[in-house]
Amino acid sequence: MTTDFLVIGTGIAGLTFTLKVCKFGKVIVITKKSDVDSSTNYAQGGIAAVFDKRDSFKFHISDTLVAGDGLCNEKPLQTMVEEGPRLVSELMELGVDFSRVKTENNKERFDLAIEGGHSKRRIVHARDFTGREIETTLLSRVRSKKNVQVYEDCTACDLVVENNRCCGVYVLLGNRIEPIASKLTLLATGGCGRVYLHTTNPSIVTGDGIAMAYRAGGEIRNMEFIQFHPTSFYGKEIDDRKFLISEAVRGEGGVLRTKDGKTFMEKYHPLGCLAPRDIVARAIDTELKKMEGNYVYLDITHLDKERIKQRFPTIYETCLDLGVDITERPIPVVPAAHYVCGGVATDLDGRTTIEGLYAAGECAYTGVHGANRLASNSLLESLVFAEQAARDASKKIGKIERIKIAKIKNEGRKCDEEVIGQLVKEIRETMWDYVGIVRSNQRLKVAQRKIKDLKGKVEKLYESCEITHSLIELQNLATIAELITMCAIKRKESRGLHYNTDYPKKSNRFKKDTVVTTKV
Ligand code: FAD
Ligand code: SIN
Repeated sequence: MTTDFLVIGTGIAGLTFTLKVCKFGKVIVITKKSDVDSSTNYAQGGIAAVFDKRDSFKFHISDTLVAGDGLCNEKPLQTMVEEGPRLVSELMELGVDFSRVKTENNKERFDLAIEGGHSKRRIVHARDFTGREIETTLLSRVRSKKNVQVYEDCTACDLVVENNRCCGVYVLLGNRIEPIASKLTLLATGGCGRVYLHTTNPSIVTGDGIAMAYRAGGEIRNMEFIQFHPTSFYGKEIDDRKFLISEAVRGEGGVLRTKDGKTFMEKYHPLGCLAPRDIVARAIDTELKKMEGNYVYLDITHLDKERIKQRFPTIYETCLDLGVDITERPIPVVPAAHYVCGGVATDLDGRTTIEGLYAAGECAYTGVHGANRLASNSLLESLVFAEQAARDASKKIGKIERIKIAKIKNEGRKCDEEVIGQLVKEIRETMWDYVGIVRSNQRLKVAQRKIKDLKGKVEKLYESCEITHSLIELQNLATIAELITMCAIKRKESRGLHYNTDYPKKSNRFKKDTVVTTKV
């Protein structure tokens, strides 16, 4: 297969890029499961953007800077905040049905919500299924374009990079390895939450893009900053993931309580339950350790029942299926791995350090989130930097020659799926136990040793077995575990999402990104 633009991933970043570049050449879009399988599809809270008269770009920037704890990259942050409202309005024009309310003069405006760390109402949402609205709308637009081909069940295994130029990718299609030669390639593969035992992320989120870019010599930044969402449902999981209870629930007045009914967030931050996520997740962790409990409660039983059902239909219905009527009983919640602030280093135009390779969305590091992402800034970042990358790629496409890629065979013995499953489990448990919300030098060293050992076993399998979808994911999870641990060991301070009990304070010496690459 050959193409002008190759897009890896069908979340908000991949689809936005596709819609913008398809006027300028042929696009192949690949996705490793069905086209809707993405984190985007599960986003609940919404997209942060300035629409309210009482809000301003300055406020949005300063809230993001506070959450980012000294590490935000200000130029891309300004671009993100300033381009946000135009691109959110564009989504609405494409057909995304965001929730709206009537104004006094009988016009309509967005029903703006508030979430942790935001000083103003600026979360544009479609009740509590914002992601699904965006995903299905963008997909139907992409599906209608003649020069776009979408391949489902097509897993990228490795980038093809020659003399630091990306000329395409090898994919697993059925049980064959096929080359796709492209002039320009976008990584839009999402985050890496599945590297942790407990996560809100769906099964596709195994850090493939970040791991592939790292193997190909690309620069990776700040992988230690893993965001744990404070409130996922404690108890049964759904499709092997923790069900998220949106921060918007706290925005509407939800209160966190310990099991004996006492509130506690006022002890940790002046914003109480609406403090930035790192603070709330650590506070819950501390309270759980104090009382040796498994969960705390998120209580909205004091709110109007009809309002709860209307505003949070997905959360209401899902919790009911899981055995809790949230209008009657508090919801048992625990923190779970949710988002990675680091990733493949990109510039303002989404360019990575490998020529011809762009990255956008959660797999990319733009620097806007610093050490901790402000709620609902992720969909926004994906949207804005997918457009930036598309603009740059469209300008360049005419000047680039395609390079042929050699075919390779998929040979080797069949690998036992039980063995793969066990190794995945060990990686996820190690990361949860030793590189979680609270870290220490000793825990990180144990993790490093265990991951090194596991990675050795994974590499042997990869070399001797026929490549399968699960083996690709296993290899990538092992690489991601190694990267997070490596970055966490390098950062000898506590900042934002990275908390190490041996260095409980921030240090000016570490007011910089953690940079890793295989290039010498
Ligand atoms: P994704 O949407 O994750 O898409 C990744 C795509 O890459 C998928 O199509 C996948 O199949 C494909 N892919 C991956 N690896 C390969 C491979 N090897 N080969 C081929 N294809 C591959 N953020 C907000 O701003 N607001 C919210 O309200 C919000 N709520 C969230 C709720 C949940 C439950 C979760 C999990 C996240 C939430 N986030 C939210 C975060 C946000 O949804 C994600 O950061 C964002 O959607 C990422 O978009 P993306 O396009 O980068 O990746
Ligand atoms: C949520 O709805 O709480 C998730 C928002 C986000 O991850 O930004």
